[in-house]
Amino acid sequence: MLAEALSNLTQSSHPDLLVGFNKADDAGVFRISENQALVQTLDFFTPIVDDPFWFGKIAAANALSDVYAMGGRPVTALSIVCFPEGDMEPKILAQILAGAEETINESGAVLVGGHSVKDKELKYGLSITGLIDPKNLITNAGAKAGDVLYLTKPLGTGIVSTAIKRDACPEELIVRIMQQMATLNKDAAEEAVKIGAHAMTDVTGFGFLGHALEMAKASNVTLEIDASAIPIIPEALEFAKAGYLTGGAKDNQKHVGAALEIVGNTDENILHILFDPQTSGGLLVATPDNAPSDMAVIGRVTKASDESLKIT
Ligand code: CO
Ligand code: CO
Ligand code: CO
Repeated sequence: MLAEALSNLTQSSHPDLLVGFNKADDAGVFRISENQALVQTLDFFTPIVDDPFWFGKIAAANALSDVYAMGGRPVTALSIVCFPEGDMEPKILAQILAGAEETINESGAVLVGGHSVKDKELKYGLSITGLIDPKNLITNAGAKAGDVLYLTKPLGTGIVSTAIKRDACPEELIVRIMQQMATLNKDAAEEAVKIGAHAMTDVTGFGFLGHALEMAKASNVTLEIDASAIPIIPEALEFAKAGYLTGGAKDNQKHVGAALEIVGNTDENILHILFDPQTSGGLLVATPDNAPSDMAVIGRVTKASDESLKIT
């Protein structure tokens, strides 16, 4: 929605604006000196889990992720709070903030403040500022034919969150999914930077294929995805089969549309998970073919063809 509204604005051009909102990238990047640029991002949402402490942790990991996805190092964080004052106990907000602070501390960044407004519905998130040497900036535009693709977290958090809301989720899975979403992309990003990643993005609301399409378009290449190699939360597939489908996945599928060619027969439930909107998802990384990595290869980059995405 924001992208549509922004499309009516002309991106202000400035010699130091390295990545602006016209780039469909994870964060804005602004050079402040020859060797340093600010990486700035903002993300907030309604609770996706019932536990306020874990909601805070997940919101923080999710917001920090956009800095990691550019290869940056998060430095400061500001909270954005919409709180139903009077209808909700203040200690809930204290727990959210405590969770967020724990995860921010884990990242090495510092929570420096924030702002709250009264609202009917609880929402929480953060604006993160990071730093990067502009020479080391990794956008989604650098993937090259011959690169291999990695995905660093299993897909399916959207569909599992839907199952949680419908009380269909066993406690053990809720704990596992909260831990996954609260896991920082810090180590994954450091590994990607170390092996010379050409392009990187985190997988969030547009789903795996939505973010893959952004990378394919920005890099002017085609991404060939091996559906059987994609890491998936096993229960998410079970929920898909049982019909726990999300509206978000439908929107994402519509958005990708004809840019996707399905070669062979990919199970429709797997396809649904490839479109599933993720919260605090993993990184999609394109690296040189010979880069040493423990991560599982999920596809390859080829020269641009009629379709930007192929699933085999
Ligand atoms: Co992102
Ligand atoms: Co984001
Ligand atoms: Co990026």
